[in-house]
Amino acid sequence: MRTHVAPAPKLFCAVSSFLLLASPLLLSTSHAAYAQRPNSTVRATSGQDGEAFVNSLLGKMTLEEKIGQMSQVALNTKLDTPADEMARKGQVGSFLFLTDAAEINRLQHVAVDQSRLHIPLLFGFDVIHGFRTIYPVPLAMAASWDPAVAERAQSMAAKEASATGVQWTFAPMVDIARDPRWGRIMEGAGEDPFLGSRMAEAQVRGFQGDTLGAPDHILACVKHFAGYGAALGGRDYEESNISDEQLWNVYFPPFEAAIHAGAGSLMSAYMDLNGVPATGNRYLLHDVLRDDWKFQGLVVSDWESVMNLTTHGFSRDAEDAAARAVNAGVDMEMTSHTFRDGLPAALHQGLVTQATLDTAVRQVLLTKYRMGLFRNPYVDVSKTASQMVTPEQRDAARQAATRAAVLLRNEGNLLPLSKQYKSIALIGSLADSKADIMGSWSLAGHPSDSVTVLEGLKKRFSPGTQVEYTKGVEIEREQTSIFDEQFSSPKPTLKTEAERDAEFHHAIDLVRQSDVAVLVLGELQSMSGERASRSSLDLPGKQEELLEAAVATGKPVVLVLLNARPLDISWASQHVAAILEAWYPGTEGGDAIADLLSGDANPGGKLPVAWPRSVGQIPINYARNLTQIPNDPDTRYWDGSSAPLYPFGYGLSYSSFSMTNLHLASNSVHAGSKLEVSVDLQNTSSRDGDEVVQLYTHQRAGSASRPVRELKGFRRVTLKAGEKRTVTLALDTHDLGFWSPQTHHWSMEPGAFDLWVGHDSSASDHASFTLQP
Ligand code: NOJ
Repeated sequence: MRTHVAPAPKLFCAVSSFLLLASPLLLSTSHAAYAQRPNSTVRATSGQDGEAFVNSLLGKMTLEEKIGQMSQVALNTKLDTPADEMARKGQVGSFLFLTDAAEINRLQHVAVDQSRLHIPLLFGFDVIHGFRTIYPVPLAMAASWDPAVAERAQSMAAKEASATGVQWTFAPMVDIARDPRWGRIMEGAGEDPFLGSRMAEAQVRGFQGDTLGAPDHILACVKHFAGYGAALGGRDYEESNISDEQLWNVYFPPFEAAIHAGAGSLMSAYMDLNGVPATGNRYLLHDVLRDDWKFQGLVVSDWESVMNLTTHGFSRDAEDAAARAVNAGVDMEMTSHTFRDGLPAALHQGLVTQATLDTAVRQVLLTKYRMGLFRNPYVDVSKTASQMVTPEQRDAARQAATRAAVLLRNEGNLLPLSKQYKSIALIGSLADSKADIMGSWSLAGHPSDSVTVLEGLKKRFSPGTQVEYTKGVEIEREQTSIFDEQFSSPKPTLKTEAERDAEFHHAIDLVRQSDVAVLVLGELQSMSGERASRSSLDLPGKQEELLEAAVATGKPVVLVLLNARPLDISWASQHVAAILEAWYPGTEGGDAIADLLSGDANPGGKLPVAWPRSVGQIPINYARNLTQIPNDPDTRYWDGSSAPLYPFGYGLSYSSFSMTNLHLASNSVHAGSKLEVSVDLQNTSSRDGDEVVQLYTHQRAGSASRPVRELKGFRRVTLKAGEKRTVTLALDTHDLGFWSPQTHHWSMEPGAFDLWVGHDSSASDHASFTLQP
C-alpha cells in the first residue's frame, strides 16, 4: 500500500490561472478565427471551462477520431497514409519531428480548417538541451549545481522552439542514473534524487513558464517513467529490477518533483520494470501517478513501446497490447499504430471500455485546451528566423557552459594559463569539431553555429600567444549509431596505419615545441545518448596513448574532457597536471572553454555523479547503506580501492574556500518545520569564485537502514576575493522522510540524525540533531 500524501497538484491551479490571465486580445482573435471556420461545430468561448468544452467535443467524436487523437505520428518515418490525409480525417493527434514553421502552420491549417471537428494538432520535438542554440547537456547543467542555469537554458530553448511552432518537448529526462556505461546518463541529472528533483523542477519551470500555454513556452514531458536508468549492465533498453524501497526513495522523487512543479505531460519508459513493461504498468501509470501524485496531465508512450508490449512477451497481439496500454494509463501512443490497429477490436471484445478510452482522449484534448491551441494554434512565421541564435541565446549558452564545467585537478595552479605561455599546442580531433561539441540530442542545432575549442582559444589567446592545432588521433564508434544521419562528426581522414602514426608523432612534436599543451579528449556526440552504452569507460581509440605520450614530453599538459559520462581517467588523475571536465558544452562551448582556461571565468561546477576509478567499481554512488566495517569502506576489493576517484559533489576552483562555524539553529526540530543550518564560507584566495555549500544527513536508527549520507540541501555562492559570508540552508524536515520497506509507508521517524556540511559528499564538518514528532 502506498501512503504518500501528495501536496495539492499545481497543474490544476496553473490551468485555472491561465484561463484567468489569458489576454482579452488573444481570446477575441482566436474566437473569431474559430467561429469563422467552415462547418465549425465546436466553439471555445471565453467563459467556457476546459472540461465542459472537451466533453462536448468528445460527444461528437467517432471512434476513429478518438483513436486519432490518441496517436502520435513521427514524420521522420515511412507513413502508410500521407500526413495531410491523416490530419484531414482526424486520424492523428500529434506530429513528431517537424521543425519547419511554415510546414507546421500548413499542417495545422489542414487539421483545423479541413477536419470534421477542427481539432488542432500538437507538434512535438525533442528539445533536450536547446533547440537551435545548444546548451550544455543536462548532466552538465546538473553539474552547475545551480537550478537557475537549467531553468534559464530550458526557457531560452522553449523560446526558439515555440518560435518555430514546436509546442511540446520530451524533456526533462529525470531518470536517476548510477551506471556511466548507460549512454543516456547524459540526459539526466546524475545519481542523486535530491539534486535530480531540483533540476527537474527547474527545467519544468523553464520549459512551461508560469502557466501551461504561456507565450514563448512549451509543454514539458517528464520521462521515462520509471526506472529506465537502472537498465541491466547499463545496456540501453534492458530490463530494470528495482526494489520498492529504491523506487520510492531514489527513482521516483524527481518525477514527483517535476509533476508538482506542473509538468503537463509524462512519458512511459520502454523497458520492463520488475517484470512488467512500464508502458503496460498500471501500478506506475495509474496507482502511483494518478492516485498518489494526482497527476492531471497527458501520458504518452515512448517510441513504439505500445507495440513492443508484445515483443516483451507481455501482450498476445495488437489488441491485447493496445488494451493493456490504455488500461494502464497511456493516453497517446508514440509512432507505432497499435491503437489504430488494435483498439477497435479490443473495444469490441471488451478488453477495454469506452469510458477508459474516453478518459485517454479527454486527456489529450484537455492538454490542447490548456495549451491554448483551440484559441490560437498557429505560429507567427514572420518572427521565426529572428528568434534563432540571438546574442541573448549565445550569452545564456556561454554562461551555462562556464557554470557547468568541473575542475577535477589543478596541480601547481597550472590553470588558468599563465600569460607567460607564448605557444599552446592544441591537440585532439574534438577540439576542431563543430558537431561534437553539441553532444547528443541536438537535432535542431546547426553545427555551423558552434564555436569550437580551436576557434575559442584562437580568439582568446592570439596573437599574443600562438595556438597551433593538430588532431593527433581520430576516434570512431565501433558500431553504427541510430543517429548517424543526424550527427555530423568529422569523418576520419587518416586511412593507413602509417598516416595515423605520422599524425600521432606530429602531435607529440608539436607538444614538445610548445610552452603548454591542451589536449581535448573524450567522446564523439554519437558515443553518448540513446543506444550509446559502453562496456568500458576508457578514452576511446588511442587517446590515452596520446595523452601519456604528451605528458612524457615533460611539457605542462591540460586535459579538457568533452563527454557526458565519467571516463576512466585514473592515470590522468595522477600524471596530468590539470583536468577540466567541460562536458558537451553546446554552441558556445569553445568560447566558454577559452573563458575558463584563460581565467576570465572560474570553474565552480561539481560532479553530479561519483566518478569511478574503473568500470569494475560500478555502481559507486555515494548514498548507500553500509553494514560490516563501515569505517573502512575503502577495503571492499582486495585488488584496488573501493573509493571513487572523485566523490559525488566534488569540484575545484581557481579560488580556495574555507567553511567554519557549522551552526544549527537548534539541536532538535519538529517534523513539519525547518532547521536552519549555517556555516561561514570564506573565499581565502585573491580571485573571485564560486563554491557550493552542500548539506548531507544520515538517520541513525529507524524502521529501516538508511544511506550513510544523503544530500538534503545545497547552494552555489559567488564570493569576491577574501569575502566571508554566513550561508544559511533551511533543512526541510519533509526531506528527512522516506518510504520504509518495513512499513510500506512514507514515514518520518523521530530520532537522532547526523549532519555534515562541506564542499562535497565527503564533507567532514559534523553536527547532530534530533527529529521530534
Ligand atoms: C525515444 C526516446 O527514448 C525518447 O526519450 C524520445 O523522446 C523519443 N524517442 C522521441 O524522439
